[in-house]
Amino acid sequence: KTVVLAYSGGLDTSCILVWLREQGFDVVAYLADLGQEEDFEKAKRKATKLGAKEVVVEDQQRELVEDFVWPAVRADLVYEDRYLLGTALARPCIVRGLVRVAERVGAGYVSHGATGKGNDQIRFELGCYALCPDIEIISPWKDPEFYEKYPGRIELFEYARKHEIPLPITPKAPWSMDANILHISYESGILENPATHPPEGIFQLTTDPEKAPDTPQILTITFCAGVPTRVSVAGDAKQVTDPLEILRTCNRIGGQHGVGRIDIVENRFIGLKCRGVYESPGLTVLRAAHLDLEALCLDREVRKIKAHLSHRMAEQVYNGLWYSPEFEFTDRCIADSQKMVTGSVTLKVYKGGVYVLGREAPVSLYNKELVSMDVQGDYQPPDARGFIRINAVRLREHHRVKNASN
Ligand code: ARG
Ligand code: SIN
Repeated sequence: KTVVLAYSGGLDTSCILVWLREQGFDVVAYLADLGQEEDFEKAKRKATKLGAKEVVVEDQQRELVEDFVWPAVRADLVYEDRYLLGTALARPCIVRGLVRVAERVGAGYVSHGATGKGNDQIRFELGCYALCPDIEIISPWKDPEFYEKYPGRIELFEYARKHEIPLPITPKAPWSMDANILHISYESGILENPATHPPEGIFQLTTDPEKAPDTPQILTITFCAGVPTRVSVAGDAKQVTDPLEILRTCNRIGGQHGVGRIDIVENRFIGLKCRGVYESPGLTVLRAAHLDLEALCLDREVRKIKAHLSHRMAEQVYNGLWYSPEFEFTDRCIADSQKMVTGSVTLKVYKGGVYVLGREAPVSLYNKELVSMDVQGDYQPPDARGFIRINAVRLREHHRVKNASN
């Protein structure tokens, strides 16, 4: 029996690796490079030493950005008004990698280290079932055989010591983190009390807005059919056009200026509320720019429908339904709405804020003549009189009836 384990290099998935071997599995460890700070060679050696039959380290950054993040930017995805889905977008990407490896090595099982209370278990498992309907999933944190033996950190440390699993040398931060090229999330531990302020120094991608530079930075982002295609930073002649570099540039500039921090309470799919702290500088900048360009390029009624679809799609992504018929449908509709969303937006980032300075599009529905207060254009002002009177029919009736009845 072979199992492919989504391996992170950390203590939990290291213990799971050893435990899976004890259950008689050949373990193939899959470690996705999604842009997180990690010594992948070291993690690879560690998994090999713990008895993995094979360790696959795969750079999925490009795949993540082009196939998962760009559709999210195009759709303006945001969950419960604030969370930009940095973890939720990475999960279906990892699933794709896991399933690829499972198919190559002929594994019938997939395993992961997500807990039984969270969203990630749902995202991993629904994704695996969708892409590989016959796969069996082993989730130790839902298996009493595993979790009853290791109900807490102490037991897990004991297990690690017994099996010569290296313990983290640096004391574990008193919260749980998930990092990738999109964001870092912080939750649980001392953050579980929603009243506790996140300690100074928790953030790794963004400067404290109060300590951010006193001079703003200006940048211009270009989109083609709703997808970012270029960034240029004022004072730098270089045009960035590679998708990965576009995101990295937005992260760097946004991060330097303290953009993209949030501290929220959110509703997990499973029905629990949880407190999360996030920093996603690049996505925050890109979203502000894209929304602004849509205002210029999208028809008013299309925009309304699109906003509704965006809401639905964010929920689908959050709930682990990337590989679902409803997601495919929503994503396709949104892509269709974006045919005209081509142009550039110039922004200023300054002390945690993103400010739009101006926008332009080669083809847009904006007609300067039509709207101008200085030119008549192809528009008859007296027509507005009829338009308003007709709209007033309903209002007059409503108030007449209301007044008569009291
Ligand atoms: N609450 C966020 C989400 O559901 C972040 C989850 C972080 N995951 C983790 N394994 N630390 O997308
Ligand atoms: C976990 O439970 O493994 C992390 C949090 C989440 O999945 O929501």
